[in-house]
Amino acid sequence: MPDEWSNKDFAEDWDNGGAAKHPVRKEHLDMLISIISDGYSSDKYILDLGYGSGQVEEMLYAQIPDANIVGTDNSDVMIELSKKRLGDKFSKLTVINHSLEDIEALELPKGNYQYVISVQALHHLTHDQQKKIFQFVYNTLGSGGSFLFIDRIALDVQTFEQSYKAIYEKMFNKPFEGYKKDIEQKGDYPGTPEEHISWLQEVGFKATCLNKKFDRAFILGVKK
Ligand SMILES: C[S@@+](CC[C@H](N)C(=O)[O-])C[C@H]1O[C@@H](n2cnc3c(N)ncnc32)[C@H](O)[C@@H]1O
Repeated sequence: MPDEWSNKDFAEDWDNGGAAKHPVRKEHLDMLISIISDGYSSDKYILDLGYGSGQVEEMLYAQIPDANIVGTDNSDVMIELSKKRLGDKFSKLTVINHSLEDIEALELPKGNYQYVISVQALHHLTHDQQKKIFQFVYNTLGSGGSFLFIDRIALDVQTFEQSYKAIYEKMFNKPFEGYKKDIEQKGDYPGTPEEHISWLQEVGFKATCLNKKFDRAFILGVKK
């Protein structure tokens, strides 16, 4: 079953613990926050595509209280959860309810966008849709800006099953068969890090994989 972001129980479950179940998420979010805290210029903008319940914004505002952040999402339920999470900080955030499937029609507040981030929000979209989003991100960023992209990646389980199984079972203490079934049922379209890097290069980015662990990668695209 695909993820149901408009279902209140599903969204609350993810927000209350599901998100934290993957040990690599925290590692990648810590890297993301370090990069932005170190490089952010106060007059610039950060765009978060699929910002969800505001977990990343909570971390960003803790480090940079006056950050100019624009968050997009198309789930009213997740947006409502972000309102609860951020409290009085919610009014600082510019929220745009918009589908990533229609990225070309997304209208953003005018500004110099230094960072675009997207965390676990693109892997269910087709490769063509993901490429359109990469093009939009490139067009949105100012010169020298960065795209910080964290997501689930495709694994070649057929070829490397024994190693992936061993890593998964050590990491999650659960049988790998369950993971395989779950992934099959979701019917998503994650790319490999190599694909993401080549799609980013095609639209003009310098790109690299900053970190990859099991089925999660942190990809960086820089607009020179
Ligand atoms: C796994 S959550 C991640 C939320 C947030 N980025 C984080 O890491 O805390 C995925 C988010 O992407 C949003 N999303 C999924 N498909 C979308 C689409 N087509 N358009 C806009 N948002 C979408 C969901 O509503 C959800 O809030």
